[in-house]
Amino acid sequence: MTLENEYAIITHHITKKFKDFIAVKDLNLKVKKGEIYGLLGPNGAGKTTIIKMLASISNPTHGEARVLGEKIPDGDIASKIGYMPQETGVYLGLTVDQNMKFYGRIFNIEKEEMEKREDELLKFVDLEDWKNEMVENLSGGMKHRLSLACTLIHKPELLFLDEPTVGVDPELRISFWKYFNQLRENGVTILITTHYMDEARHCDRIGFMQKGTLIAEDAPSKLLQDTGKDSLEDAFLEIAQKDDRKKVVT
Ligand SMILES: Nc1ncnc2c1ncn2[C@@H]1O[C@H](COP(=O)(O)OP(=O)(O)OP(=O)(O)O)[C@@H](O)[C@H]1O
Ligand SMILES: [Mg+2]
Repeated sequence: MTLENEYAIITHHITKKFKDFIAVKDLNLKVKKGEIYGLLGPNGAGKTTIIKMLASISNPTHGEARVLGEKIPDGDIASKIGYMPQETGVYLGLTVDQNMKFYGRIFNIEKEEMEKREDELLKFVDLEDWKNEMVENLSGGMKHRLSLACTLIHKPELLFLDEPTVGVDPELRISFWKYFNQLRENGVTILITTHYMDEARHCDRIGFMQKGTLIAEDAPSKLLQDTGKDSLEDAFLEIAQKDDRKKVVT
C-alpha cells in the first residue's frame, strides 16, 4: 500500500506565519484513513490554523501537504471533505431547513436524497422539531448542532471538526461521539479539536500542540502510560513543561 492510500493527511514541514508571528511551525502530521485524530492544546496553540490549511481555506507559508492524495490547496477535494468551523457555519437569517438545503445545493444533492439525509441528520442532532424555525431563535448549542448536521450533508470521507461539541449538553456530546465512532467504522477519517479532555480519550491518537509546535503524539492510553499521569490534562502539562525546559537549555 502506498503512503497516499494509507493516509488521509500527510504534511511535510508546514509553517504558517502571520507577518512575523509563527502560528504553526514545521508541522509533520500524518493521519491514517479511518482514524480519529484529536488536536489538543491551549488557546492560540495553532489548532484552527492547521485545520484551515488542510481544508484549503488558507495557504501554508512554507512546506506542503497532501489531503486525500491531492496537494493542497485544492478546490476539487471540497466534495470529499466536511469542515465544521469553530465559529458557527450557519446562516442566522434562514430557517434550519433552509440552511440544510443551502448546503445540499452546494454539493448538488438530488431532492429525494436531500430530504432523506436532512431527516436523518436533524434526528441525529435532535432538531427535528425545529426544522422551520429561524436559526437566530436557536440557542448557542443548537446552532452548533445544526452546523454539524450541515457539515455532514454530503457524506464526506474526511471531516475537519473544530471544537464540534462546545456548548453541547453532556448527553448529546455522548451521542455525537457514538456517531463519530460509527463514521469511523464506515471508513471516515476525522481530525477534531477539543478542550474536553474526557472526550479526547475517544480519539485513536492525539497530538498535543503548544505555541504552534506539535510536542507529542500518540494513543491517549500511551500518553498516560509514558507520563505516569491519570489524566490527559496532567499528561499535557508534564510534556509541555518538559518542552519549555528543553528550549531554555538548548
Ligand atoms: N488571520 C490571522 N492573523 C493574525 N494572527 C492570527 C490569524 N489567525 C490566527 N492567528 C494567531 O495564530 C495563533 C494560533 O491561532 P489558532 O486560532 O490557530 O489557535 P487555536 O489553537 O485554534 O486556539 P483556540 O483553542 O482558542 O481555538 C494565535 O496567536 C492567533 O492570534
Ligand atoms: Mg481554534
